[in-house]
Amino acid sequence: MFEVHAIDPERLPELLRVMPKAELHIHIEGSLEPELIFALAQRNGVSLPYADVAALRSAYAFSNLQSFLDLYYAGASVLLHAQDFYDMAWAYFEKAAADQVVRAELFFDPQTHTARGVPMGAVIEGLSRACRDAQTRLNISADLILCFLRHLSEEEALATLEAALPWREHFIGVGLDSSEVGHPPEKFARVFARARELGLHCVAHAGEEGPPAYIWGALDVLKVERIDHGVQAIHDAGLMQRLADSRMPLTVCPLSNLKLCVFKTLSEHNLGQILDAGLCVTLNSDDPAYFGGYLNDNYLQTFADLQLNAQHAYQLAANSIEASFAPEADKHRWLRELTTCFQSFEQRDGMPLRAG
Ligand code: ADE
Ligand code: ZN
Repeated sequence: MFEVHAIDPERLPELLRVMPKAELHIHIEGSLEPELIFALAQRNGVSLPYADVAALRSAYAFSNLQSFLDLYYAGASVLLHAQDFYDMAWAYFEKAAADQVVRAELFFDPQTHTARGVPMGAVIEGLSRACRDAQTRLNISADLILCFLRHLSEEEALATLEAALPWREHFIGVGLDSSEVGHPPEKFARVFARARELGLHCVAHAGEEGPPAYIWGALDVLKVERIDHGVQAIHDAGLMQRLADSRMPLTVCPLSNLKLCVFKTLSEHNLGQILDAGLCVTLNSDDPAYFGGYLNDNYLQTFADLQLNAQHAYQLAANSIEASFAPEADKHRWLRELTTCFQSFEQRDGMPLRAG
């Protein structure tokens, strides 16, 4: 691990903004800003139960995961055509580029759309075209991860996976999201086995609101390569040891946890503890349009409230690159760029002031 030498703490926010980083936990439907929801509603003739953008935004006060999901699924109802999915993803990529995101792995929820009669092809083709343009126009490497809604049955998840197979080359993995408590990972054992057979990467939300047992289940039954959230692992010492020893990545989303009342305040978030326990923690935005911030907002607010330092910044950015499913050559290149970025901050700090 690169050891960070003295960097002026006052320059830490600038360093957080400009350092290259990967985002591994972003639901693309959660990047739909109220302005775009209203624009798409008008374009598609969908009526919304809110008078205007301000009225919709004022409804964004959540007490738990479910209270958010109800609004999130309602917001996604304006997405009908491939171009809508493209526009949504493109708006996210422009924000990601400004945040120096070099790699983005986007979750999408096909069942939210196919249940309304939107063809699978419209969803995947729109998102996939935006990913290709992100590479050519913004130099962001991007891929898609298809998520199953865990409040629905495993049969529906299996049917969704089969329905997506004509677009197999357009997504790199599968995930598991939506209402966690009452829907343990074991419910999806067969669909994840099928996904592994197909050579897809596997990740799952576990331990966002659910107990450590759900994290064990995601590891041992679904055989995931990353845990999304995972903050409840702190209550199980044996699990913390397992996660640390295996360098199992956790994709943690502090502003999401704050807005969904997993922690009362950001300063009570356990990110610092799990990082210091040696876990491969990454920082992510989850549903940035709903939780008040994109990736750099998560970095800036978390570092301020938890009093993290430049070494933590390097660790989190390096973890995000290490934990990504990008080709190894790209990961090595981004790690070198990350180190160069930090060195340039050290050097400038050490430079004598020029006379005259
Ligand atoms: N879908 C979108 N955001 C989610 C979250 N934070 N947890 C579970 N499912 C989600
Ligand atoms: Zn999530």
